[in-house]
Amino acid sequence: MRFVVTGAAGFIGSHLSDALVARGDEVVAVDCLTDYYDPAEKEENARGLDLVRLDLAEGDLALDGVHGVFHLAGQPGVRSFGDAFPLYLRRNVLATQRVLESASRSGVRVVLASSSSVYGNAERYPTPETATPEPISPYGITKLACEQLVRAYDVDAVTLRYFTVYGPRQRPDMFFRRVCDALRDGSPFEIYGSGEQSRSFTEVGDAVAATIAAMDGAPIGALYNVGGGDEASMLEAIVLLEEIADRSLDIRHVDRARGDVARTKADVSRIRDALGWEPSVPLADGLTRMWSWASARVAAR
Ligand code: UGA
Repeated sequence: MRFVVTGAAGFIGSHLSDALVARGDEVVAVDCLTDYYDPAEKEENARGLDLVRLDLAEGDLALDGVHGVFHLAGQPGVRSFGDAFPLYLRRNVLATQRVLESASRSGVRVVLASSSSVYGNAERYPTPETATPEPISPYGITKLACEQLVRAYDVDAVTLRYFTVYGPRQRPDMFFRRVCDALRDGSPFEIYGSGEQSRSFTEVGDAVAATIAAMDGAPIGALYNVGGGDEASMLEAIVLLEEIADRSLDIRHVDRARGDVARTKADVSRIRDALGWEPSVPLADGLTRMWSWASARVAAR
């Protein structure tokens, strides 16, 4: 089968593309290598893929002969107040609208990457998909707008709300990546707020398996949480990573970040019942893998 993966040089997109190629699919790997973080890192993620450089907010996505589009491209990052908002609008809302235009013309299925951040400080935990979305960050609001566009277009689409995905190639602005880099370099790590905030961390291999299962088997219009089984606070997660790395982290507390939710915990019963997916990688195992990757990066320098 032939699939388009947008954001194919990003963290989740590159793992997804590798997994599709490994099972024998053909991947059209689309990315415009934005400079949100070092594009050289994205090129490294996409090694082995033949990248098509396309800005989805302007260019047209050709979908002839394509069986489905995994739309993972976007402007990530929950800490999204300030001048960057036009970028969030362009790279999330406008780009998604244009992908949906192409998909509805071609009758091609889209799997949309959305986010746990649409829930904001959720009305209950574990949070089911039926909870009222109340995003508290500009980023979360643009992701919710993308979900609403999917409904408005009435295309064959499946929406996935990923919960804080981690693993090798994690973006350099994200928590575990920064902790690993600081442990490796012996540099200080800034924790936003008390560190008592917690997340339903999701290992990237699990996230990829859910994403492929959604393309292959989800009913039209489905919406699923994709969240890890183990919830941990940032302080608990740091202790775990210190044990794995056998090093201690130099922690500095700074102000909590605006738009940061206190807790996420996914209710994954809907995707388990529909597709048989559930998270399979315990946090300690996923972090062991992530630390080996971070250490190998050091060795390669
Ligand atoms: C992550 C991704 O960055 C979003 O793109 C994604 O949409 C979202 O998950 C999601 O669940 O959908 P977040 O949960 O904030 O957002 O993940 P991290 O960036 O890894 O941060 C986790 C926690 O660590 C947050 O409370 C954050 O404030 C904290 N943190 C992060 C720090 O204390 N220090 C840092 O340097 C970075």
